[in-house]
Amino acid sequence: MDFSLSEEHQMIRDAAREFAQTELLPGVIERDEKQAFPKELIQKMGQMGFMGMMTPTEYGGGGMDAISYALVMEEISKIDASASVIISVNNSLVCYGLSEYGNEDQKQKYLTKLASGEKLGAFCLSEPEAGSDATSQKTTAIDKGDHYILNGTKNWITNGSSADYYLVIAQTDRDKKHRGINAFIVEKGWEGFEIGPKEQKLGIRGSDTHSLLFNDVKVPKENRIGEDGFGFKFAMKTLSGGRIGIAAQALGIASGAYEMALKYSKERKAFGTEICNHQAIAFKLADMYVEIEAARHLVLKAAWEKDQGKNYDMASSMAKLYASKVAMDVTVEAVQVHGGNGYVKEYHVERLMRDAKITQIYEGTSEIQKIVISRGLIDA
Ligand code: CAA
Repeated sequence: MDFSLSEEHQMIRDAAREFAQTELLPGVIERDEKQAFPKELIQKMGQMGFMGMMTPTEYGGGGMDAISYALVMEEISKIDASASVIISVNNSLVCYGLSEYGNEDQKQKYLTKLASGEKLGAFCLSEPEAGSDATSQKTTAIDKGDHYILNGTKNWITNGSSADYYLVIAQTDRDKKHRGINAFIVEKGWEGFEIGPKEQKLGIRGSDTHSLLFNDVKVPKENRIGEDGFGFKFAMKTLSGGRIGIAAQALGIASGAYEMALKYSKERKAFGTEICNHQAIAFKLADMYVEIEAARHLVLKAAWEKDQGKNYDMASSMAKLYASKVAMDVTVEAVQVHGGNGYVKEYHVERLMRDAKITQIYEGTSEIQKIVISRGLIDA
């Protein structure tokens, strides 16, 4: 067993670290305050190859593995978790979904632009009454022969207003329950498709989150992904990979907060010495580091299982469940290590603490991950 990263993986990680320091760190506090993320930064992330990392090169992607993706997600999230959720949705929910399950025309028309970063994607599953209970879709897509008519509302959609292409999950035949659900590619600007108000959020405030309204939107039949009735499985399969990305995001938030706490504790003096020399602080650092290392192993194991072509449903849920808990625990402790300074914006840790919470909620709450894990254990 070899726990070391290959030279290529180290290079990818270092490139992401450098990018985060030079391009994302300046302005991160302002983006959080203003709830804004400039388009130019998304384009720069595309130029770095971060927007379609696992998409095959013939469709404009980087052709990289899930380990590379997890490493990039960790590094970006240390500095700016809003940037990393934009990357995550585009990579693992939108590009991965299209490259695995889209047809050749859909790949040529949509995936090539999404994977290169020219266009941005959004994944639209959640509804006002269907968050965790994803089979209870109220949005409908009625088959009209050569097209569907889409009606309904989606909630909490990441990249809600900034995306160009939207993967929308909708019920096509209520009697068939989850087997009567389909996924569609919808373009911004189509008649009847409206972007709802922006959510005012606790964390990841740089990324835009909106509700979306579909009112008699005409969706060509060629924009359905996969066979009729494949939509729920499509959503579950893409989310399973997405959870590796969010686990890596949580890991990055935790390790970013830990690195700040370590640095601060070696500079800040109290009672005649640097505070890291007080056991009260040193033990916190030890606990944080152990939790982060354990989370890192779960995240990389899940990514490795995906790269090996194994079933990674349980592994991705375990990584997300644990890493998101570590993100909460470690960021709270990092604020504590910083004392009063931890509570003000310029020291960054308060933002990481606010950002951490969403990792226990989106792409399936912690309770949903326990459902996936326990079912996996019982069915094994
Ligand atoms: N892969 C393939 N198929 C799967 C699957 C998977 N990982 N998980 C379930 N399925 C299939 C099942 O095999 C079953 O199919 P058959 O009946 O044909 O065998 C079907 O899907 C229904 O499965 P379940 O009976 O297990 O469904 P359930 O209603 O009990 O729900 C759940 C399972 C795990 C709770 C699921 O609803 C779930 O994951 N909910 C959470 C949804 C979620 O993560 N939402 C996040 C929104 S997206 C987001 O947050 C993005 C963002 O902005 C960052």
